[in-house]
Amino acid sequence: TRGDVAKGKVIAEQVCAACHGADGNSVASANPSLAGQHAKYLESQLKAFKSGERKNPIMLGMASSLSDADMKNVAEYFSEQKLKARQANDKALLPAGQKLYKAGNPVTRVPACMACHGAAGKGFPAQYPALGSQHAAYIVKQLNDFKAGTDRKNSIMADVAMRMSDADMKAVAEYISGL
Ligand code: HEM
Ligand code: HEM
Repeated sequence: TRGDVAKGKVIAEQVCAACHGADGNSVASANPSLAGQHAKYLESQLKAFKSGERKNPIMLGMASSLSDADMKNVAEYFSEQKLKARQANDKALLPAGQKLYKAGNPVTRVPACMACHGAAGKGFPAQYPALGSQHAAYIVKQLNDFKAGTDRKNSIMADVAMRMSDADMKAVAEYISGL
């Protein structure tokens, strides 16, 4: 069943807007935009914050105040908002970022991100989050979190991130933010 968008909107406006924007387009680069993200993925992350599986002190507090129904509703609301297109900050990194995103790196065995996150960065609803137009700084932090495996655990993304250098992460994040 789908969440209740009207109920989700109330939570978004009262609680989440300060950091993620009332319409899910955030301003500060540490706070991810949530607009247009798949509802199932958003809900899964809220559950992970609440259980402590994904560690973030701010989001632990936020998710702890939400019931399962609240999570479903607010996830549905943000998934229905329109994500604003973003321009990459550092255009010089785009060719390297694009290459990694689309083809991976056979030498270091980084897989193509496109295989799971889609050529246009929209992901696939049931399994893979959308990445396009996300803040580059947020993307880099997530890749480092997956690599370290303490604040964010995911076996697929840990295996991807452990093969990436800092330069790979920065370049691919710039490319993704402009998608
Ligand atoms: C991350 C939802 C309130 C700061 C996230 C994520 C979700 C989310 C789903 C993960 C996004 C992803 O994986 O792409 C919500 C909801 C809120 C809320 C539904 C209201 C009930 C807030 C507030 C703040 C905040 C008020 C700031 C005080 C952050 C930060 C992250 C984050 C910094 C990134 C955490 C990291 O680096 O892993 N939020 N949020 N959120 N949120 Fe919120
Ligand atoms: C999540 C980047 C390749 C599957 C993520 C996130 C980022 C990311 C930044 C977190 C999104 C967010 O917090 O909103 C990348 C990059 C890749 C890559 C840069 C290529 C270098 C792949 C591949 C797969 C994959 C090849 C599938 C085999 C996933 C899954 C998640 C995810 C399942 C969700 C993890 C969770 O639930 O915490 N990816 N990805 N990714 N990615 Fe990738």
